Amino acid sequence: MFVYLPTLITFICGLYLYFTRGFDFWKIRNVKGPNPIPFFGNYIDVFFRRKHIGVLYHDIYKQYPDEKVVGLFRMMPPTLLIRDLDIVKQVLIKDFESFPDRGVYYSKQKLGTNLFHADVEVMKALRKHLTAVFTSNKFKTNFDMLVNRAEQFSEYMGRINQANGEVNMLPVMRKYGADSIMMAAFGLDLKPYDDTNPICDVLDEGIQKPSYFTELELLFPGSLTKFDLSIFPDKITQYFKGIIEAGATLRVTEKSEKNRAIDVMMVLKRQGAVNASKKGDGENEAVVEITDELLAAQAFIFFFAGYGNNSLLTSYALYYLAKNPEKQDILIQEIDEVLLKHDGKFSYEALKEMKYVGMVFEETLRLHPLTNAVVRNAARDVQLEGTDIIIPKNTILAISPYSFQHDEKYFPEPEKFKPERFSAENVRELHPCAMLSFGLGPRSCLGSKFAQLQFSICIVKILLKYRVECTKNTPETLSYTPMRLLLTPNERINLRLVSRDKSY
Ligand code: HEM
Repeated sequence: MFVYLPTLITFICGLYLYFTRGFDFWKIRNVKGPNPIPFFGNYIDVFFRRKHIGVLYHDIYKQYPDEKVVGLFRMMPPTLLIRDLDIVKQVLIKDFESFPDRGVYYSKQKLGTNLFHADVEVMKALRKHLTAVFTSNKFKTNFDMLVNRAEQFSEYMGRINQANGEVNMLPVMRKYGADSIMMAAFGLDLKPYDDTNPICDVLDEGIQKPSYFTELELLFPGSLTKFDLSIFPDKITQYFKGIIEAGATLRVTEKSEKNRAIDVMMVLKRQGAVNASKKGDGENEAVVEITDELLAAQAFIFFFAGYGNNSLLTSYALYYLAKNPEKQDILIQEIDEVLLKHDGKFSYEALKEMKYVGMVFEETLRLHPLTNAVVRNAARDVQLEGTDIIIPKNTILAISPYSFQHDEKYFPEPEKFKPERFSAENVRELHPCAMLSFGLGPRSCLGSKFAQLQFSICIVKILLKYRVECTKNTPETLSYTPMRLLLTPNERINLRLVSRDKSY
């Protein structure tokens, strides 16, 4: 026993020295930050799921009001939280080539090459082919389909309301989110309004409840790739591979009228490889081989982004509309007036005239950006603008949209729901980089326009039929659970639907 004690003490001291050996990294560079602890750096609360990482970043943002950047540590690797919008602009837009990736990697065979997590070569090769699928030239084609799905959804929602006297919004909204993106991207009908069909819950469970591999990658970057592990379960990989295999039987042609994500993917599959250069003839550009795994990863990210964000955003919006009935009145009045002008027909042109719907979309996204952090990895040593700080290659930089969007400097009375901030006149006064819910620059969200369409159609269809009201079970305030990837409420958003009896 006495012989082993000194060995044990030496071992513990050795471990301590090993795990703390880089903790003077930010001090040497005159960057302030909270004290890290051995093994967990500054992320112990995230590791043990006591705090969502988005909440951790916001707490740190508030603790250092006078700093442009705050120095942090994952287990040992240094990470920088950015608090200054000029540096945000440098990292995301001006100096994009120095920060092209997010620096989160996991098994390429198991969804790791999706556009969000892929390295810049794959992103450049694929993004130009897939962007068109989710931008405005597709809107008219998608419009009627989305209206049809939203109608089915609002009837389903009405049935739940009738049965329970109120609706727990998030699980119900997930069905519309999943259904609309599956139809728009892959032409697949999930049949989500049949309550005996568990598909939406099964997919949600597999995708949004993070495995502990997420924390492993956070603390030990690179470990998942080394062991070919994924942050998502195998059944999710198999499900999206199944969609690609089914797509191969569609026999879509290059001139396919539909031009959905699945059609474009099948064209790429037949091509076999794509080039990262715009014209397809760049000599030094990477050639990316198109495999089923690569396409399954893209199908996965479209579904994840399309159902997860939408269901949260619509639930949050209905919550604020119920809590601010005077804003709901303005919205309902606009919807009724525009439709009256269009003879009761809800068309793409009519939606474009509903400016307040767009303002509600922006204001809800400001209050709840859904994304915990916009992240970039330095590809080389870079000096940060307006500072003498040189950050070395492979430093992770984190930007908290929630923090900027709740900072009084950029948005006065930040906790108040005021869609008018986003009127055409007021938007000109906003800092061009302060709204970060879709990120910025060449790697900003590829589906933002589609997201707005998906949201707006659903909100209009619900408010044509119902008003939303608070019940005794509606939470006074909302907080975020550490158990989900996106910024998801701990509380149930229970609301009552009151029929408006509108005929169109
Ligand atoms: C309200 C809904 C949505 C929100 C809040 C959202 C937010 C974001 C954010 C913050 C990023 C990272 C941006 C950056 O790092 O600069 C992102 C990237 C991305 N989003 Fe979205 N998103 C939404 C909907 C969608 C939809 C509907 C799709 C597609 C169907 C989509 C596809 C993507 C893809 C593929 C990327 C990665 C782009 C790249 O790295 O090149 N998103 N999104």
